[in-house]
Amino acid sequence: MSEVIAVVPGDGIGREVTPVAADVLDAVGDFEFVHADAGDAVKESQGTPLPEETRETVVGADATLFGAAGDTAADVVLPLRAAIDSFVNVRPARTYPGVDAVQPETDLVFLRENSEGVYAGIESEIAAGVTTTTRVITREASERLAEFAVDYAPEGFTLAHKANVMRTTDGLFKEAVEGVADEHGVPTEPVLMDALAMHLTMNPEAYDVVVTPNLAGDVLSDLAAGLVGGLGLLPSANVGPDNGMFEPVHGTAPDIAGEGVANPAAAVLSAAMLLEFLGYDEDGRRVRAAVEGVLADGPRTPDLGGDATTEQVGDAILDRL
Ligand code: NAI
Ligand code: MG
Repeated sequence: MSEVIAVVPGDGIGREVTPVAADVLDAVGDFEFVHADAGDAVKESQGTPLPEETRETVVGADATLFGAAGDTAADVVLPLRAAIDSFVNVRPARTYPGVDAVQPETDLVFLRENSEGVYAGIESEIAAGVTTTTRVITREASERLAEFAVDYAPEGFTLAHKANVMRTTDGLFKEAVEGVADEHGVPTEPVLMDALAMHLTMNPEAYDVVVTPNLAGDVLSDLAAGLVGGLGLLPSANVGPDNGMFEPVHGTAPDIAGEGVANPAAAVLSAAMLLEFLGYDEDGRRVRAAVEGVLADGPRTPDLGGDATTEQVGDAILDRL
């Protein structure tokens, strides 16, 4: 069977790196690609950053490759994650031979709650100059994340929380995740998320899988990107019950967009996660090995100290496949 892959490049360097990731999928698999638009440019032309047609394409596909959206990111990415009922954002952050890293021993995976927290979108200006946001933590979402985590990390995981201050919301998050882990006999190590930021910076090798509420996972995974050599290397998977959306952690990189020098590694590694999600583990492994080979031997884009273009790096990855 040939699965349907939706390809939504978005804006900025999303338009440069997503085609490389799609070419890689085309090279290793037998997929049917459906292209769709979202983001700032679409808002300009159609009045909405997320046309209903794009939403339907993503929901109807077996998996989606997404690039990045600019100012409209929250109006595109959050509704798309919700549309496929994505409850966890998987964000691996590891170092690669040949890539300079602040912390060469880093090999982490963040499992970030993907549907609520402070990204629930409930914000108001209750009076002039006074604004609020509602942080939503539910037992259902926390337990769903935990069920995924015990499966993903049966040997145990770190649990990032701030239940000493946000007693009700993170109190529930911590209790719910620990409850599921206990039921499955999976050990957890609860750590206050601010202290964890420091520990991850100084001793990332002491950590493996880190389960986090939504915002904390966003921040800590970008911190980890800094430890391993930059945002150009971090893929992610938005996993839902029967659909997934795969995207680099980075945004549209307006400072380099249009120059053709964005690092396609994060997008291609996201494609590798897509392959594994669909059950093509061996193909995912091959793609990852090709990226690792190119990172080790070059060519490299300027963010990694090289002078190659996105296209040259993409061709080098395809050559290895
Ligand atoms: P960014 O990730 O776009 O860029 C941060 C820095 O990392 C820049 O210096 C950029 O050049 C560099 N960088 C990122 N990806 C790279 C790559 N593949 N190769 C080489 N260098 C790379 O984050 P920033 O600047 O905070 O946001 C820019 C725009 O992207 C904003 O409009 C933001 O809303 C949007 N954004 C969208 C996301 C999404 O669609 N999921 C996620 C994050 C930001
Ligand atoms: Mg982010």
